[in-house]
Amino acid sequence: MDLSNKIAIVTGASSGIGISFSKKLIERGAKVYGLARRLNRLMEIQNELGNQFSPIQADVTRHEEIRSWIKSQFSGDENPHILINNAGLGLFGNVEDVSLDDWHTMVNTNLNGVFYLTREVVPLMKKYDGHCHIVNIASVAGLLGNPQLSGYNATKFGLRGFSEALFKELRYDKIKVTTMFPGSIATSFFDQFGGTHSNMLQPDDVADTLIHLLETPDNFLVNEIALRPLNPKNPDES
Ligand SMILES: NC(=O)c1ccc[n+]([C@@H]2O[C@H](COP(=O)([O-])OP(=O)(O)OC[C@H]3O[C@@H](n4cnc5c(N)ncnc54)[C@H](OP(=O)(O)O)[C@@H]3O)[C@@H](O)[C@H]2O)c1
Repeated sequence: MDLSNKIAIVTGASSGIGISFSKKLIERGAKVYGLARRLNRLMEIQNELGNQFSPIQADVTRHEEIRSWIKSQFSGDENPHILINNAGLGLFGNVEDVSLDDWHTMVNTNLNGVFYLTREVVPLMKKYDGHCHIVNIASVAGLLGNPQLSGYNATKFGLRGFSEALFKELRYDKIKVTTMFPGSIATSFFDQFGGTHSNMLQPDDVADTLIHLLETPDNFLVNEIALRPLNPKNPDES
């Protein structure tokens, strides 16, 4: 896909890889609707990226909010060509210590939120003559289970299943579906786990991979891709 003048929706655009995705898409000439709950952060990002970035304050766990934004935003000629389902979070702990609230927050954000937005966007993409692309940001935690990650693993494994079904369902509608499975990335995701270190993946590098996936030829689909630091160890601890 040629990204110039394409319309992209990026969830989780107020932080981390969502900022890098938005920045790289805009550098390629796309227009980005950046969704997140913190409007002040989104406004700061608009100051940095310019008016090709439109801040949209929305909570992906609230279906009605998402539905009415899509309905009002795309009531005219403009339709989204790209959807990056990126908003997500991990709340870790031994299974008996994971609160019901934490479990539900992960399921509502990482899984239900993806469904809520995707079900509203797909009909718009089906109306478009050319190719469209949905990219779901899972995690290596969607490929491998690990202690203390049961809830996060459950949502990201679930996202993998959702994405694979969608890829097969939407391919003949010219809608590509890709699932990304990144390892540790240096973002605020790690604020609650002691911070980041220099051997983690860098957000801009992950975003370069996203751009590559989006720019592949129309009949060429990377449906799944795993990204990892070659050496994942914290250099300060070795
Ligand atoms: N960092 C990693 O190591 C890593 C590795 C693999 C996969 N991932 C995945 O990558 C994605 C992005 O994470 P990140 O590392 O960039 O983390 P981050 O810096 O913490 O960003 C998370 C983003 O999600 C948004 N968000 C959370 N709940 C939301 C909600 N209910 N509605 C709308 N937006 C919401 C946050 O915005 P607001 O708080 O403003 O709403 C924020 O913009 C997540 O899906 C994560 O699971 C991260």
